[in-house]
Amino acid sequence: MQDSQTAKLTVGSNTYEFPIETATTGEKAIDIGKLRARTGLVTLDDGLANTAACKSAITYIDGEKGILQYRGIPIETLAEQSTFTETAYLIIYGELPTRRQMSDFAQKVLKNASLHEGMMHFFDGGFPFTAHPMAILSSLLNSVGCYYPYMVTNHREQDLEHFNDAAALLISKVRTIAAMAYRMKNGLPMIYPKRNLGYSQNFLHMMFSEPYHEYYPNDEISKALDLILLLHGDHEQNCSTSTVRTVASSGANLFSSVSAGVSALWGPLHGGANQQVIQMLQHIHDAGIKVEDYVEGAKKGQYRLMGFGHRLYKTYDPRAVILRSAAGRVLDVIKTRDPLLDIARHLEEKARSDSYFIERNLYPNVDFYSGLILKAIGIPIDMFTVMFAIGRMPGWIAHWYEVASQVKGRITRPRQIYTGYTTRGYVKMRNRDWENSSDYELEDNKGAQSKE
Ligand code: ACO
Repeated sequence: MQDSQTAKLTVGSNTYEFPIETATTGEKAIDIGKLRARTGLVTLDDGLANTAACKSAITYIDGEKGILQYRGIPIETLAEQSTFTETAYLIIYGELPTRRQMSDFAQKVLKNASLHEGMMHFFDGGFPFTAHPMAILSSLLNSVGCYYPYMVTNHREQDLEHFNDAAALLISKVRTIAAMAYRMKNGLPMIYPKRNLGYSQNFLHMMFSEPYHEYYPNDEISKALDLILLLHGDHEQNCSTSTVRTVASSGANLFSSVSAGVSALWGPLHGGANQQVIQMLQHIHDAGIKVEDYVEGAKKGQYRLMGFGHRLYKTYDPRAVILRSAAGRVLDVIKTRDPLLDIARHLEEKARSDSYFIERNLYPNVDFYSGLILKAIGIPIDMFTVMFAIGRMPGWIAHWYEVASQVKGRITRPRQIYTGYTTRGYVKMRNRDWENSSDYELEDNKGAQSKE
């Protein structure tokens, strides 16, 4: 039904032609932008699983082959040769930095590491100790913009003028806010960043140092953390990034857009899965459940095997492959044998040889092994998704920029297939059946009667 340039759609006796767009990597998409205008039809695509919602030049994924590239560079190469800060620059600006550019960027990140003293009040009774750090992070990323009003004008040209500063500021502040959320929740004094430490080292310092005892992270540990952040740098149109792009499409500023991204990331089907994986492994361990039995329960649909499956990857998530060996290395370094790693490996082995998982192409995703490394480093479980958010910040920033700098960008506003009532009349209160809602009736009748 299609030649190289157009696709033909036949509806009844009419045939329509639509252009085909080709990606630099060869994938093709039918441009249905004029579909409704020409045919009166819209498309219905649950979860947008089959829809390219935008054009983007940041990240490429081939889920069938297990390929992930940031700006064309394979994730395996970056994992081996780069650092989180350098990769953040690559993701945001599209090129690897020169020595000078890297130094300027790192200086900007360092300069922005501490928070405005006004923000410290949020940690001093502004949130209850029970607050989830993701809620704190989302709120404070939006709030941080209030301290830089010239960066948060919601006038595109002005916001873009300050983009370089805002980008470095967010890369830096997300780390500080995360560490301070942890300190507050644990009743610990705030620890300020240090000039002589790298990005991941500084995070560990702010998390684990004490005023009377400095924490010196082992080199392997800070490298492992840096690797985790780098591997989370971007992942094209995932749920949180699509959220950032959607918010950005309304003209909203960078700070509010990434804050929305944090909220979207929090869910257990997205970034929240890394926390759920450890809880699942711990549950299997503590309750003495046989791995084989746990896999059976997942097959029966009683629960999902957390850290398994991915919308795009139909083979191993390349990030999981890297983290699988990193997990072993980190545990060796800290000379700990975590029984959860054995359970994870056993679970993977069982699931990977089971027809249910084979037929559905369910492989371990990035969250399956990252939690084990974070746990070994000493990061508490409710901070796991926060770690994901720190790593994903460059991606959100880059996607915001891509949307904000479009000359003819359109607001994201999908259509729907309406499944509710068609037009009907208003029924007066006295004519409604209230049999099953006695409490509500008593409350509401007062107001309602007075209107009649
Ligand atoms: N355990 C057991 N069965 C699963 C799993 C799983 N983890 N994931 C998918 N399936 C099954 C579904 O039940 C469904 O089976 P069916 O065809 O018999 O109905 C089939 O595989 C397809 O599943 P969908 O939910 O349609 O796949 P979708 O692409 O919508 O969801 C998702 C992807 C959300 C990642 C899903 O695999 C999942 O819930 N995984 C567990 C949570 C998780 O690890 N999330 C992190 C994802 S990575 C990230 O966001 C960083």
